[in-house]
Amino acid sequence: MANITVDGKVIMAQDGALLIEELLANNINIPHFCYHPSLGKDGNCRMCMVEIEGQKRPQIACDTPIKDGMIIRTKGANIDRVKRSMLELELINHPIDCPICDQAGECELQNYYMDVGLYDSRLSTPKVHGQKRVDLGANVVLDQERCVLCTRCVRFTKNITKTNELGVLSRADHSVITTFPNNPLHNPYAMNIVDLCPVGALTSKDFRFKQRVWFLKSQEAICDRCARGCSIFVDHHKEKYKDEMIYRYRPRFNDKVNGYFICDVGRLSYTKENDNRNFHPHIRGKISEYEYAEGKLLRLIKRHLSKTLILLSSTLSLEEMVRLQKLTKLYGMKLSGYEEGNNDESFGDTFLKCNDLSPNARSFKVLGINSTKESFREDLSAVDFVLLVGRKDTALVQQSGFDKSLAMLCAYCPSASDELELLLPIASHTARAGTFINNDGFVQYSKCAITHNSEHKTLLELLGTILGDNIFTCKDVWDEELVAFDTLAGIDYHALQNTSLKIVL
Ligand code: SF4
Ligand code: SF4
Ligand code: FES
Repeated sequence: MANITVDGKVIMAQDGALLIEELLANNINIPHFCYHPSLGKDGNCRMCMVEIEGQKRPQIACDTPIKDGMIIRTKGANIDRVKRSMLELELINHPIDCPICDQAGECELQNYYMDVGLYDSRLSTPKVHGQKRVDLGANVVLDQERCVLCTRCVRFTKNITKTNELGVLSRADHSVITTFPNNPLHNPYAMNIVDLCPVGALTSKDFRFKQRVWFLKSQEAICDRCARGCSIFVDHHKEKYKDEMIYRYRPRFNDKVNGYFICDVGRLSYTKENDNRNFHPHIRGKISEYEYAEGKLLRLIKRHLSKTLILLSSTLSLEEMVRLQKLTKLYGMKLSGYEEGNNDESFGDTFLKCNDLSPNARSFKVLGINSTKESFREDLSAVDFVLLVGRKDTALVQQSGFDKSLAMLCAYCPSASDELELLLPIASHTARAGTFINNDGFVQYSKCAITHNSEHKTLLELLGTILGDNIFTCKDVWDEELVAFDTLAGIDYHALQNTSLKIVL
């Protein structure tokens, strides 16, 4: 370790590490465009200038290794003048279109200008213009005028996806980012360059012009599109007189699971949360009041008791599964986690995406829930009522020849409800919190619990009412029930709030 002094304050830092990394780790504001922790240094933007005692000229923090005893200044009239000059250079040809730019509100250029810029333009010659809408492919649009040529996007396709679709064309103020001829941006992680771009040069076709970012609220969640369970932010907003809408998923840094990135399929899977969520309870194909349908569920359970099979889905959280398990034990019901079609050989790759599309099938193993076809078939033949929980189609049960009573608790509108005795909506993935275990055995808590206009209850609330034990929240379930499982020893609700914890399965 090394002791360094930054703006008069002594901090302990890793000897030999890049100065910018230690400054950022200590929450010291250091402007930067080209450096990114996942891409390393490039030294092209010169925004990260600092003064180092003993050096004649300011140095870039992204290419300065730390040495013990260094004295560094990141603020002051001298260094602010240097930063202002760099900004002035960046802004010579930059359009002043913040009011119509999607990045406004989360733009580094805008932020730095507000910090140390605020000068009148000295430019007397016309700006060099570029194309405003270049379709790069893969849902990404480039505005050439806004680009500060940091090359983060180029280095992403070179070093991370290794697909090399992007490059810099021409020289000086005619330099532009472009794709190679007949090689559009086309890789499953392409939309990450929109997050990497520090300005509004790269925008997502899906998100652009839909919402101003300062209206968005963010909640932390886990992507449920495949078994990787990437960490994400869910950005949502409720307009007056309307329901909450989710506008985008963004990657949330998690060094144990997904680093700084997510795949495009997972990123765009937010649409299911808006499209299929608002539907009514149905009793034998007819719309019903929620309260009445809830009563009907209780009556169905009481009528069939040990002649019931609960067929749950791997999209349920660990807490929901253990509560369903409690219900089945209490009334001698059968419980199965058997699923079909959850493995897609064409989906996975060697980076993040997994062929296994079940977000929480590992919890079956932790709780000892049988998910084999044989036990499912056997259980099905012994019951006269099947309650599907978290699933949205009845094909598996009906194709197995079951023609008795069927009910469904689901979060997304099912294809048909006529054959169901009861269809009861429950809160969807981003409308309730819960724990998920990914394919590498990381236990992760998805905190996002957006409140919607609909009266759909969470599954935990419904089960709390049915079981009558006043356990309604994830914390209660962890304290009262999950502590008893050996595989989860050492993991508790509080520990999960800020990190992913590995278990051996
Ligand atoms: S498009 Fe964005 S990320 Fe790419 S070089 Fe320009 S400013 Fe950097
Ligand atoms: S890799 Fe899987 S979990 Fe991660 S973002 Fe993509 S679909 Fe979601
Ligand atoms: S961040 Fe250091 S030169 Fe760009």
